[in-house]
Amino acid sequence: MVALTLPAGEATKSWLYLTQTVEWLLQERVERCDVMIALGGGVIGDLVGFAAAILRRGIRFVQIPTSLLAQVDSSVGGKTGINAPQGKNLIGTFHQPIHVLADTDVLATLTPRDFMAGYGEVVKYGLLGDEVFFDWLETHGAAVAAGDMAARVHAVTRSVEIKAGIVARDETEQGDRALLNLGHTFCHALEAATGYSDRLLHGEGVAIGCVLAFELSARLGLCAQEDTSRVRAHLRAMVMETDLSGIPGSLPDADALLALMAQDKKVIDGTLRFILARRIGEVFVTSDVPRDAVRGILADALAWHGQALSSYCSGATSSFQ
Ligand SMILES: NC(=O)c1ccc[n+]([C@@H]2O[C@H](COP(=O)([O-])OP(=O)(O)OC[C@H]3O[C@@H](n4cnc5c(N)ncnc54)[C@H](O)[C@@H]3O)[C@@H](O)[C@H]2O)c1
Ligand SMILES: [Zn+2]
Repeated sequence: MVALTLPAGEATKSWLYLTQTVEWLLQERVERCDVMIALGGGVIGDLVGFAAAILRRGIRFVQIPTSLLAQVDSSVGGKTGINAPQGKNLIGTFHQPIHVLADTDVLATLTPRDFMAGYGEVVKYGLLGDEVFFDWLETHGAAVAAGDMAARVHAVTRSVEIKAGIVARDETEQGDRALLNLGHTFCHALEAATGYSDRLLHGEGVAIGCVLAFELSARLGLCAQEDTSRVRAHLRAMVMETDLSGIPGSLPDADALLALMAQDKKVIDGTLRFILARRIGEVFVTSDVPRDAVRGILADALAWHGQALSSYCSGATSSFQ
């Protein structure tokens, strides 16, 4: 067995490291019958999976996800790829791993911030497909965060079941698979606006994006405001950011964020598609969202962000760090 170690961080999901990985594999004379193993978080899983997909027109690979996010999300479903300067995950393909091995013991070595970023995706599953699971998280989320192994195993298992169920119905995202992108249209714009840096981790953006998706749904009269409040309350109870004010530094204005959203892979004929909620546990895909409603949600969220920023700059106490 031979191994290549790649740097940690989203910047590794790039042409540069894809080229380096593929050329290293060729130098090592990896053949079509060999198996690649992606051992790491979602960055490694996505990059290695893509390298496996294109090397010699496709070789087999195994995912051994080591972050919570990778165990509940990126290692399942076969999406692989890298980022482009124009946006996240814009280059890639579907390539299913032949096996996924998730050892929940390794989650103990994650930094608390990385662990909680993964929890953003776990909450997403409750919100998009299983209110009973969301109820369970409200009760047991603290135990999951504290390291209770039985709770962690249940959270990972239920998340994977929900994701795998949807992917089995729609592997190549012709329909229902898009539901898994709840919160992601907002999240991807925020990640682009913060330069894919540690100002905002993917799962942190997903949590904020889910709140914004519920806010938008409530504003359009599709779901009750109480549901939005419940989502926000649970994330706050887990000490997760729910608002743009939790993102350090300045952000572009609402129109610039809308322009970043237009790079989203869910755009069809220039029309943005959103995953909106009818209630916790039930979401749907729609392109029937007035642009002004989205701009309004963003402008309001940015107004709060601006207030937090100015009180921080003037030395006043605020939650903005
Ligand atoms: N393919 C998909 O379907 C899919 C789905 C969701 C997210 N993603 C992608 O996944 C990526 C995010 O994944 P991530 O959150 O795992 O990020 P990551 O891979 O950057 O890992 C986060 C950090 O944790 C470290 N790490 C990983 N496992 C560890 C462990 N056991 N102990 C200590 N440190 C550990 C990593 O080195 C890194 O610093 C994004 O690029 C996102 O686009 C892909
Ligand atoms: Zn995600």
